[in-house]
Amino acid sequence: MANPVSYKELGFVNTREMFKDAMKNGYAVPAYNFNNMEQLQAIITACTKSRSPVILQVSKGARDYANATLLRWMGRGALEMMKEMGSPVPVALHLDHGDTFELCQSCIDAGFSSVMIDASSKPYAENVALTKKVVEYAHPRDVTVEAELGVLAGIEDEVSAEKSHYTNPADVVDFVKKTGADSLAISIGTSHGAYKFKLKPGETVPPLRFDILKEIEKQIPGFPIVLHGSSSVPQAYIEMINKYGGKMEGTAGIPEEQLRQAAKSAVCKINIDSDGRLVMTAAVRKVFAEKPGEFDPRKYLGPAREELVKMYMDKNERVLGSAGRY
Ligand code: G3H
Ligand code: 13P
Ligand code: ZN
Repeated sequence: MANPVSYKELGFVNTREMFKDAMKNGYAVPAYNFNNMEQLQAIITACTKSRSPVILQVSKGARDYANATLLRWMGRGALEMMKEMGSPVPVALHLDHGDTFELCQSCIDAGFSSVMIDASSKPYAENVALTKKVVEYAHPRDVTVEAELGVLAGIEDEVSAEKSHYTNPADVVDFVKKTGADSLAISIGTSHGAYKFKLKPGETVPPLRFDILKEIEKQIPGFPIVLHGSSSVPQAYIEMINKYGGKMEGTAGIPEEQLRQAAKSAVCKINIDSDGRLVMTAAVRKVFAEKPGEFDPRKYLGPAREELVKMYMDKNERVLGSAGRY
């Protein structure tokens, strides 16, 4: 980038202090993805109203969809909007699932305060080397770096894995020491998307592997842990989608009580994207079904935005425990 810009000039913060506070007080900072204006407005409104810190996540797919420059300015605009709404809360702008050094570098130069380098699908030594390279570029600029060990099932941007591999607690000390990463995404049974488990009739969602989490905490005490793939896939929204003409069968998410439990541990960041997608889809479908003549996008995206605000506030209050912290 010709003129790199620091996130500090834009008003974002990195995740260091956020995670310290989350660790000390037994909650997790929400990391919500956005691809468009309505999602961003809803996240900012919900987190300001519930006085929660927030990590705004931008994936590679989001950058391709919305344009990287526009997204950066949208993030900056959201901060200004937050100031106008009253006392602002801490906001980090974070690259979700960065897969190359160049992408992380470009985000850092564009004003991101935090980046994820996801080399979890590569052999261990390559994961270490790539993560370390990103850390060496990020840290002199005071940008925090999230890394990943272990593989989640499902789609991680363009990386797709059939089966998950739980994080091996025996690797974490070495990995953290060698890479210098600031936080670690682990695999303990979560996965991306709205179809996290294939359940036979009568079966319930298997619990997360809290035993692995505990062992990891023992190995790296006080080190911030990240959970990806943490949408709960609320059945009320699935029912609404199906009622208004959609067809989503066999969906399953992570039960909220388990996320609450995780948030009380060293898990300091919980990633939620799919639930926002479901809420928007349900709300838009309802308008289309009830008012088939509607053609003003504000009349269907507006209700979707309102529903999103409710959902994010509820997550902050009841699930992550991040509400009321600022
Ligand atoms: O973990 C993946 C996130 O949900 C982002 O998804 O790559 O479709 O934007 P995306
Ligand atoms: P979900 O698909 O469960 O919302 O996970 C999102 C995520 O991990 C983004 O990185
Ligand atoms: Zn993810």
